[in-house]
Amino acid sequence: MFLLLYAAYFVSFLQLGQATYPDCHDSDNRSSNGTVLPVVLWHGMGDTCCFPFSMGSIKKLIEEHTNGTYVRSLEIGANIVLDYESGFFIHPNKQVDYVCKQLAEDEKLANGYNAIGFSQGGQFLRAVAQRCPNPPMRVLISLGGQHQGIYGLPKCPTLSVSSCEYITKLLNYAAYEDWVQNELVQATYWHDPLHENSYRLKSSFLADINNELYINERYAENLMKLRKFVMVKFLNDTIVQPKESQWFEFYAPGQDKHILPLNESKVFKNIGLEQMHICKKLHFLSVEGDHLAISKEWFVKELVPLLLETY
Ligand SMILES: *[C@@H]1O[C@H](CO)[C@@H](O)[C@H](O)[C@H]1NC(C)=O
Ligand SMILES: *[C@@H]1O[C@H](CO)[C@@H](O)[C@H](O)[C@H]1NC(C)=O
Ligand SMILES: *[C@@H]1O[C@H](CO)[C@@H](O)[C@H](O)[C@H]1NC(C)=O
Ligand SMILES: *[C@@H]1O[C@H](CO)[C@@H](O)[C@H](O)[C@H]1NC(C)=O
Ligand SMILES: *[C@@H]1O[C@H](CO)[C@@H](O)[C@H](O)[C@H]1NC(C)=O
Repeated sequence: MFLLLYAAYFVSFLQLGQATYPDCHDSDNRSSNGTVLPVVLWHGMGDTCCFPFSMGSIKKLIEEHTNGTYVRSLEIGANIVLDYESGFFIHPNKQVDYVCKQLAEDEKLANGYNAIGFSQGGQFLRAVAQRCPNPPMRVLISLGGQHQGIYGLPKCPTLSVSSCEYITKLLNYAAYEDWVQNELVQATYWHDPLHENSYRLKSSFLADINNELYINERYAENLMKLRKFVMVKFLNDTIVQPKESQWFEFYAPGQDKHILPLNESKVFKNIGLEQMHICKKLHFLSVEGDHLAISKEWFVKELVPLLLETY
């Protein structure tokens, strides 16, 4: 019995040792032939796939600067109204399943793609990378994504003031009720640092993809398949609270003032960010301005080069 325990200890020690020296090579080099990869976009809440002033113009911008690479702006549901409503009312697990199917059926993506998520689209695309490794995502760019959730939603883009107030009330008083988890997208990544256990037990999306309750090793393995995970933080963000969530950081448990550095938080190890960091796959960018307030110039200067890499 003692020997067996000892053996088990030794095996887990070996695994730990392995984790410290990860294999940083890409497992799949099929598309390293000088071709710019296609790009998949996932819009934020209060937006849709195809409004000409938002995703439409980003799509055009990418096409212009990548010699016309294929850009797919995801539409969740059969039309633009459903797509808009999905941002508030369709559970992220359902949305991610739907997107995984769409991506798998798109022949143009079969050899891999780069992805850009806007706001909550950032954590949703990370879920796609973790749950659906085929077709392979190569570079994930998260613009203002909330990777450790939100604790506060001072404004709701494009909703009326009364709807926004209602949503904020639900989040503050009932986020972890089952019916709210099922019906309000933002509740699924509501992260109450004063009630970490309720979050771990009840968050029906974020706690899962962040391995808070169970360690799903497949999630870490799949995330590690990315060549780069780029997180962009908006320094003067008035929508995402705390804004450090955009860099995967959050309040230390038990209070809502002090932010815990990423490398000291559990999630750093639990979903393999530590290995990604050692392999230099994590990139942290910041930009002055409010939530998603990026200029075309900044986009072209900072993000387009990431899309043009063809190694
Ligand atoms: C991928 O690239 C690495 C480094 O260039 C190389 O060692 C490895 O053999 C390649 N893998 C495949 C499957 O071609
Ligand atoms: C590179 O590979 C992609 C995907 O297989 C293919 O569509 C493309 O034509 C290739 N490009 C070159 C220059 O071989
Ligand atoms: C852009 O694409 C065209 C047509 O596929 C090709 O002839 C041209 O060489 C490409 N230009 C660059 C800069 O890759
Ligand atoms: C935005 O935030 C940064 C960092 O906190 C600060 O230095 C800068 O002055 C702010 N800019 C504006 C326009 O408020
Ligand atoms: C976390 O990172 C900071 C800055 O890079 C470093 O000073 C600190 O020692 C690290 N902490 C741990 C626990 O690795």
